[in-house]
Amino acid sequence: MCGIVGYVGTRQAAPILLSALSRLEYRGYDSAGIAVRDGAELAEVVKATGKLANLSMKVDGGKALKGFCGIGHTRWATHGEPSTTNAHPHVSGNCLGSGCGPVESDVVGVHNGIIENYQELKEKLLKHDYRFYSNTDTEVVIKLIDYYYKKYKLGPIDAINRTLVRVRGTYALEVMFKDYPDEIYVARKDAPIIIGTSAGESFIASDVPAIINYTQSVYYIDNLELARICAGSVHFYDLNGDEVPKEPTKVELSPQAAEKEGFEHFMMKEIHEQPRVVKDTLHSAIKDGSIHIDIDDEFLKKLSRIYIVGCGSAYHAGVVGQYVIERLTDVPVRVELASEFRYRKMPLAKDSLVILVSQSGETADTLAALRAAKEKSLFTYAIVNVVGSSIAREADSVFYTMAGPEIAVATTKAYSAQLIALYLLAIKLGTVRGSITDPKELVDEMETIPEKIEAILKERDRIQWFAAKFAHIKDAFFIGRGIDYASCLEGSLKMKEISYVHSEAYAAGELKHGTISLIEDGTLVIGVNTQDELFEKTLSNLVEVGSRGAYLAAITENGRYSMEDSVNFTVYTPRINEIFSASLTVIPMQLLGYYFAVARGLDVDKPRNLAKSVTVE
Ligand code: G6P
Repeated sequence: MCGIVGYVGTRQAAPILLSALSRLEYRGYDSAGIAVRDGAELAEVVKATGKLANLSMKVDGGKALKGFCGIGHTRWATHGEPSTTNAHPHVSGNCLGSGCGPVESDVVGVHNGIIENYQELKEKLLKHDYRFYSNTDTEVVIKLIDYYYKKYKLGPIDAINRTLVRVRGTYALEVMFKDYPDEIYVARKDAPIIIGTSAGESFIASDVPAIINYTQSVYYIDNLELARICAGSVHFYDLNGDEVPKEPTKVELSPQAAEKEGFEHFMMKEIHEQPRVVKDTLHSAIKDGSIHIDIDDEFLKKLSRIYIVGCGSAYHAGVVGQYVIERLTDVPVRVELASEFRYRKMPLAKDSLVILVSQSGETADTLAALRAAKEKSLFTYAIVNVVGSSIAREADSVFYTMAGPEIAVATTKAYSAQLIALYLLAIKLGTVRGSITDPKELVDEMETIPEKIEAILKERDRIQWFAAKFAHIKDAFFIGRGIDYASCLEGSLKMKEISYVHSEAYAAGELKHGTISLIEDGTLVIGVNTQDELFEKTLSNLVEVGSRGAYLAAITENGRYSMEDSVNFTVYTPRINEIFSASLTVIPMQLLGYYFAVARGLDVDKPRNLAKSVTVE
């Protein structure tokens, strides 16, 4: 949802900004721009539509722009269509088209987030003779900063503070002032931004992997704080303009974590990282043979209900979690889409546990749901991948999934790690409440997941073959019952989000209540079928659609060979306690989505219209 970067130091800024932006493209890629300042010289602004490569070409990989201080942005459009004029950076003066540098402007800035009351602020500024060249909310904010900067003449921190008091919405904002040529100012509310320093240099980015090649020493700026960034040093301020002391954190992340390491796409690399990620996530919570989760046992014993809240794949992990927790414990679970949960007026039992699931830890709806739950004094438990993210910091307790940086927009390894986190919670809960007497048996079974994923990955050629054969199709249906249905939700999303094949997940028993009318000769139906009690039923549902012309593919377990007689193509997964089957059945479906997209010649890691981290509603 837009990525922002900044640099001030001893090296040329533009190549560093482009390199950092290239690691943030997953956050948006419909246009990009940079502004670089060379000492007292005016800022040069260059923008281009489309992927970052277009901008990079325009400025010869950064060599065409001279200067030691600069900011950059990669955009996922919200206000104003993707165009060079609407691309960031925005300026307090005029900046039409693809570049306006050297800029006759006192203030230049980039922004990630949404300014909700920008129309009202724009009207105020129009009365003060400001004129607007773009349709963006960001241009309004930059011009408002300029207005207060000139009106009160108290410097950048004061001007930004006065602006933020007037602004409703979310922002990670980076601003350069003509009068302070070697400094960058940032402000943050509900959108991520981090600041790194090394000897004589400072780096700013929406997330750590973007700058990990340059420094591991990182400051986390809190909500409603501002920072003044100079070469090698940072000062933080609160909304009164008072300085706030802060220490840097050393981030444990290897620079290679954000490289493709020989894979053609990040998605394929991340699919292959799953055995390790599952193992690391599992082992992070097992100490001395028992599960350690940072929730009081007494609370676990007495809680009466669980809400699992998330968006996209995190929500799908929650649906698996619901089936597993309800199978292993006596606690009823409700799974909610964060965008619904936050506005729903529903009674919430006081002794409920609210679990927020999020890879990024920054998803706007999930963050708002967390705050809504906290307002009602409910205990919040976050399952988050990005260390130090907003959801991780605000929740009462946090479980970090050990997936490492996930770059491909379509999640794979973070989803798999979320499943592990939810299984662990289920086992812990069942143990504390007495419904599980031998947790070790279940944990031992979980220990087999990594090697079983490895075994499935070895079968990828068959899936590639299948995908190449069916790449032309328009529709696909994924059907299953119970945990298999939950797994289908994720499989179907993988298919549609990267291959653009229309796809739906259906509870197999529900298909005949309407959707079966869409089945015609050659429609692809993929059945996931691993649950003992439900096996025959799902098989019958597959046969029903097969007899109406559907082409049938099945994902089932080794040993269930009767599937082969009834369907056209079968993928087998290793046997596992069926409670954990989602961790295995999702793998062929991830590969299927991937190979469909490759066969259709699409940009796997950056599907159209999507962004990985959705920091707007
Ligand atoms: C976006 C991503 C999905 C992700 C969802 C929730 O839509 O493309 O892969 O599942 O956001 O993101 P979160 O960071 O909260 O898990």
